[in-house]
Amino acid sequence: MNAPQKRSLTEPYSAYHRDALPEEDKELAHVERGSPGGEYLRRFWQPVALAAEVGELPKRIRMFGEDLVAFRAKSGRVGILELHCSHRGASLEYAVCEENGLRCCYHGWLYGVDGRVLETPGDPPESTLRFSICHGAYPALEYKGLVFGYFGPPENKPEFPIYDSFELQGDRLVPYYITYPCNWLQVHENVMDPVHAVFLHTRVTYSHFAADVWGELPAMEFPQTPTGMIYVTSRRWGDNVWVRSNDIILPNLAQVGHVWEDGAEPKEFSRVAITRWTTPVDNRTCRIIGWRHFSSDADPRGLADERQCGVESVDFFGQNGARPYEDRQKIPGDYDAQTSQRPIAIHALENLTRCDIGVATLRRLLRAELRRVANGEDPKLSPLRVNGLVPTYTHDTVVRVPARTGASPATDKEFVREIGRRITEIVVGGDHHTDPSRTERVRAMIRDYSAQQRMAVA
Ligand code: FES
Ligand SMILES: [Fe+2]
Repeated sequence: MNAPQKRSLTEPYSAYHRDALPEEDKELAHVERGSPGGEYLRRFWQPVALAAEVGELPKRIRMFGEDLVAFRAKSGRVGILELHCSHRGASLEYAVCEENGLRCCYHGWLYGVDGRVLETPGDPPESTLRFSICHGAYPALEYKGLVFGYFGPPENKPEFPIYDSFELQGDRLVPYYITYPCNWLQVHENVMDPVHAVFLHTRVTYSHFAADVWGELPAMEFPQTPTGMIYVTSRRWGDNVWVRSNDIILPNLAQVGHVWEDGAEPKEFSRVAITRWTTPVDNRTCRIIGWRHFSSDADPRGLADERQCGVESVDFFGQNGARPYEDRQKIPGDYDAQTSQRPIAIHALENLTRCDIGVATLRRLLRAELRRVANGEDPKLSPLRVNGLVPTYTHDTVVRVPARTGASPATDKEFVREIGRRITEIVVGGDHHTDPSRTERVRAMIRDYSAQQRMAVA
């Protein structure tokens, strides 16, 4: 499969001449059984539900276009089974959780978390039917308030990766999810689109998250990292330079810095506000699911609200479709912009610009990786560990470095870009990756660097 060719109109008033819409980029976007993108995503543990939802009652879920049920046996173990009973197809969302498994409501078949048929109670005791079949099951585990499943080939099941941001000191992780009625890729790639923060979140209607500093068009770079890629945005705000990076951890995990950051106070390597997977429910539905991070230094103006984080909700503007339609038209948010790119965005109709380098880079990385998996190889993973944790790169850093005396805006912008580059070299390229005191070392290196810059401009 090749990426679709671009198809744009070139004359005024020419909508009549539009051909039939080209197809979506199936290779990248499709996730249902047998698709290259789906097979790639299946090679990673994926969150499917909040642990709090998987309790006394089974929870119906859908992943990769398959209807499934997540449940918790009374023993405490979680399981993921195909939805329809192997006897005559009754839905296991109506089943009963027992000590060692899930019992179908209709004729009482009992399934273990691994899909083994433990009882077929209507049969005579000598029946051996249950030993000859298994119900469809996927491995499941529970971690910090989320239930995860592994949907790939059993022989390729990876370790469950723990990233450094899952274990930050003084950080509280609050699980949440939001379902989007559109393909996963257009939602995920938004994380590599810092320009939308300037327009959608600040200039076009009003400032959604923070102060007007978000409306400054930043210098932008999109370097690769051992886990995937980041964006680096660098802005001047008064005498400060604010450098911000969000992570994409391939394939579908993303991390975002604090949405209330305003660049006002110096800080070095302030970490993550959101860790979120964009999961493939089916070709035309996805779910953002992950954690909001709450910590004392993350919310200088007291705007975060843990009580708003949970089922179909998070505590910042425009992330779901719950507002009235007219309100969403007047002040659209992320949910409105992304779901409205069509159920599956059609790449052949896009006209990408310099603003879209991050999106284009992400698509290129994803395409290379899914082809690697399609060719029978393993996906690339970061080999780096700090105390068993995989280092990540999301941060906000604000350094006090005034513009050089007499510098023009264009010259200062290059200076600001250079500061962003140098700070990124410290964060991504330093030799601190496997050092248990990585955070402190990165912070000290940034402090040294900014002090040198201040001296140089003084
Ligand atoms: S349909 Fe489930 S036991 Fe009969
Ligand atoms: Fe956004």
